[in-house]
Parts: sequence; structure tokens; C-alpha cells
Amino acid sequence: VDTLANQETPVVLVDLGVLERNIADMAQGCRLDGVRLRPHAKTHKCVEIARLQLMAGAAGLSVAKLDEAEVFAAAGCQDLFVAFPVVGADKGERLLRLSDRARIAVGVDSVAGAETLATIFERANRKLDVLLKVDVGFRRAGVLPEDALAVAQGIARLSGLRLRGVFTFAGHVYSATSPAEIEAIGRAEGETLVTVADRLRRAGFAIDEVSVGSTPTAAVARAIPGVTETRPGNYVFHDASQVNLGVCAIESCALTVLATVVSVPSPERAVLDAGSKSLSKDPLAPSGGGFGWLLGRSSRIAALSEEHAVVRVEPGESLRVGERVRILPNHCCVVVNLTDRLLGTRGNRVECSWPVVARGSR
Ligand SMILES: Cc1ncc(COP(=O)(O)O)c(C=O)c1O
Repeated sequence: VDTLANQETPVVLVDLGVLERNIADMAQGCRLDGVRLRPHAKTHKCVEIARLQLMAGAAGLSVAKLDEAEVFAAAGCQDLFVAFPVVGADKGERLLRLSDRARIAVGVDSVAGAETLATIFERANRKLDVLLKVDVGFRRAGVLPEDALAVAQGIARLSGLRLRGVFTFAGHVYSATSPAEIEAIGRAEGETLVTVADRLRRAGFAIDEVSVGSTPTAAVARAIPGVTETRPGNYVFHDASQVNLGVCAIESCALTVLATVVSVPSPERAVLDAGSKSLSKDPLAPSGGGFGWLLGRSSRIAALSEEHAVVRVEPGESLRVGERVRILPNHCCVVVNLTDRLLGTRGNRVECSWPVVARGSR
């Protein structure tokens, strides 16, 4: 039997029981609220996990990159949404080829960006489905709600495109400091997007999709009447940031990094073999510092270099050279992007090794 003791470190582990429960719980919540679930596959980048989500009832997948879309389309996913403002003729050509294999839609948030795709589809006498990205407060990409109608009218003039819906991502929720604030952001996310959708419908647009998303706001935003779809990604694994935000318990975290203690220069300092090459330097949301928690201990990673993690050992705790620890990372999505494979475990048994096949960045 393959066990954890046989694995070289650092290595990324996925607790299969927790993964299966996370997938089932989100699918069930969406079913009860009557909205489609389109999980963001950038979190796992893994065909086997996508299949589990689709088998549990997901309507399709969200992705951020066409590299991801191509991998999941080749693996048989029939319905993909690129939840990103895609721009460029090169991307348009790839989308045209992809649209032969799957139902595909992409995000747009400008007429100029939409034009770069429209020309390619118009020339091929085809139509590309697009969803207008709306900013509900994150202040990243997306049109402001008050500008949505003007941009939609500009997009409607492009004959290679069909404006099928609106979408948003309330990323500012990762700065929320209380459950009440998370709830308020999720409510505003759903309500603002539904209001924009209604405004566009009154102007004659056939808005079928009103797509919200994020793991912290998933349950609140999807329950707003008029929302049709939700796109959480992180929920399959969860991470220290979700626990710190109060979104889930530590027992709902499926992904950890198994590491070895390689040096204990003094009682209050221990060094692990998983540095920023394994964990990334993504911060803990919404605040709190450090680069990861050790399961079963209160000691945390205080500093990281490329190959070293420095643990500040709490009084009463100790770490020995050669000992193995499991790290709950700040942000699971970036950890997956740094590894070639995920080991699926049940207890100490390693049940499978899943390649992380959709890591392309274009
Ligand atoms: C556009 C978009 N949709 C959905 C998600 C998924 O959100 P989460 O990672 O909170 O589950 C993300 C994550 O960054 C995103 O950028």
C-alpha cells in the first residue's frame, strides 16, 4: 500500500473525503436555491476533480485562461465560461476552434476588447456568446453598473457576438473583517447584478445569465432572486484564508502541503522544506500575516524564502528534525499552480496521483 510515509516532501495532498464533501455540499446548496453551479476550475486545474464536480451536478466549468478551456474541452467538458475579459485576435482564433468542440462563452468589459473577438467570429459567419463583466465594488475589471447599458449597446452593434448575460466577482470580500460584512457584500453582489440585468432587459437585451461567484459570498449571492448561476472555485479545497474569514472550519480544508522539518536552530525556530516555490507568498486574507498554518499546532510559518519555511515555534510546542508536518496554505489556488500533481489521500493511505494539467497561463 502506498502511504504518506513513502512520499518525498514537499508534496501537495488532497484529503479525498473532505473534497467529496465540499463538492457535494456546494452542489446541494445550489440545487436548493435553484441556481446553476459553474465551479471555477482554476482552483484545481485537474480533470479528475472537474469530473467529480460535473457528476455532482455542475452545469459546466468556469476558467480564467484559454489554456484551461482547451484542456477541459479536450477532456470532454461541453460547457465552458471564460470568466475573464478576453482580448485579442489570437484569443479570438483559439475561441473559434474551441467553439467547434464545446459551448463556450467569454467575459467582455469594453467595446474595444469585444471588437477584437467579434471580427474573427463575423468573418467565420459565427457568433460568440459573451457576458458583460460588471464591477460590484472590487474595483478590478468590469464596467461600473451605471455604464453597463452604454457598453452593452456598443457590443450589440458587433455582429460576431451575442450578449447572453452579465457576470461579476466580488473579490473585495477577501478584505472583509466580519461575517456580517461578508453577508452584506454577497447581498450587494447579487442585488446589483440583478438590477443591471433588469435594466438591460428593459432596453431590449435578452439577458439569460446573471452569474455571481466567490467562495465566501456563494451562499448569500446565489439566494438573491434573479441570480441564475454561481461560480465559486476555492470551495473544493478551502484554505487558511477561508478559515480566517470565518467561511469554513479547518475540518473542511482538503488541501495541505506535507513538509519535512529540516533544521531546528533554536527551540523557538524550526525550518521546513516547503518554501515559496511550494506555498507562494500570497498573504492570509483578510489579514493576520504569516505564510501558512501547521495542522494540529498553533505554531505558524513566519517567513518564507524560495526553499525554506521558517516556523515560529510557540511556547509548549516543539519540532524535531526529520519530523513531517502538514501545512494549511494561505491560498490553495496558487499552491496548485506550483505543483505537477496532487496526491489524493484517505487517512494515511495514498489513493491516487492526479496530474495538474491545466496550468497554462495564456
Ligand atoms: C472572475 C472570478 N470568478 C470566480 C472566482 C472564484 O472565486 P473563489 O476563488 O472565491 O471561489 C474567481 C476567483 O478569483 C474569479 O476571479
